[in-house]
Amino acid sequence: MAEPSVDDNAQSRAARLTREEMEAAALEGRQVAGALDRATALRVLRDGELTVIGRMLSASNATFFGLVEEPRANGRPGIVASCVYKPIRGERPLTDFPDGTLACREVAAHAVSEASGWDLIPPTVMRDGPFGQGMVQLWMEVDESVDVTAIVGDDLPALRRIALLDAVLNNADRKGGHLLPLPDGRILGVDNGLCFAVEPKLRTVLWRWRGQPLNDDEVAVLSRLRDGLGGDLGECLRELLAPTEIRATTRRLDALLARRRFPQPDRDRPVIPWPPF
Ligand SMILES: Nc1ncnc2c1ncn2[C@@H]1O[C@H](COP(=O)(O)OP(=O)(O)O)[C@@H](O)[C@H]1O
Ligand SMILES: [Mg+2]
Repeated sequence: MAEPSVDDNAQSRAARLTREEMEAAALEGRQVAGALDRATALRVLRDGELTVIGRMLSASNATFFGLVEEPRANGRPGIVASCVYKPIRGERPLTDFPDGTLACREVAAHAVSEASGWDLIPPTVMRDGPFGQGMVQLWMEVDESVDVTAIVGDDLPALRRIALLDAVLNNADRKGGHLLPLPDGRILGVDNGLCFAVEPKLRTVLWRWRGQPLNDDEVAVLSRLRDGLGGDLGECLRELLAPTEIRATTRRLDALLARRRFPQPDRDRPVIPWPPF
């Protein structure tokens, strides 16, 4: 007999749990849909009905726990997935980023991660919700046994890739708490709202590789991103970012490809987010 597909598993989960059980599980940090492939996740995030089930009290912006639910089809329950919803309306104004742009920056960061082929940011979309337009991101269950503070200094391939992605994104807020170690060993980056400033703002806990030469795979990925800016990726970013911010991204990629090294921390500004975790 054929293995059940990811969709079948997610659908049978939805059939097994009551709505209350799903909400309770989501609020405890579970992904109620189980494992979803990226295409399915993006479809459910984009098209599912979004309901807010709680507010994340530790977060600095209005960040909500939500469920996205596909309608029943052909007599079968639709997929229900746990997500994070950050409405633009709930963004706290900042002095160094234009108001109401953080959700777009998160979606743009996801687009760059997708184009890199490295899969470093959970599926993220822009859509309407109960509190208006905002970013909706798939909730990722983390491996609670991994102490991020203990691993951020380690030479892990996943962290090295995030460090390079952040150099492209000009990420001003790569804290330890924005790194999610997953049960399958991957590490993903979240809260990517403070990216794509025009001026250099890279602030990260991932400086281990500063000044080190890029390997061939890294150069190939940067070249692919650079090409992408002239094609699909550029088109996608134009919906989300200012033209100056896209030009600055192009310049950062060109500089990385010319030097073929990880960046060095600037001496004249803070380069580690505060607090770092
Ligand atoms: N997609 C996600 N999956 C799992 N946990 C997440 C996800 N997004 C955020 N979190 C957790 O929620 C916390 C707060 O979210 P964050 O995006 O940092 O909100 P804020 O912009 O308000 O700081 C994060 O530090 C992380 O622990
Ligand atoms: Mg945060």
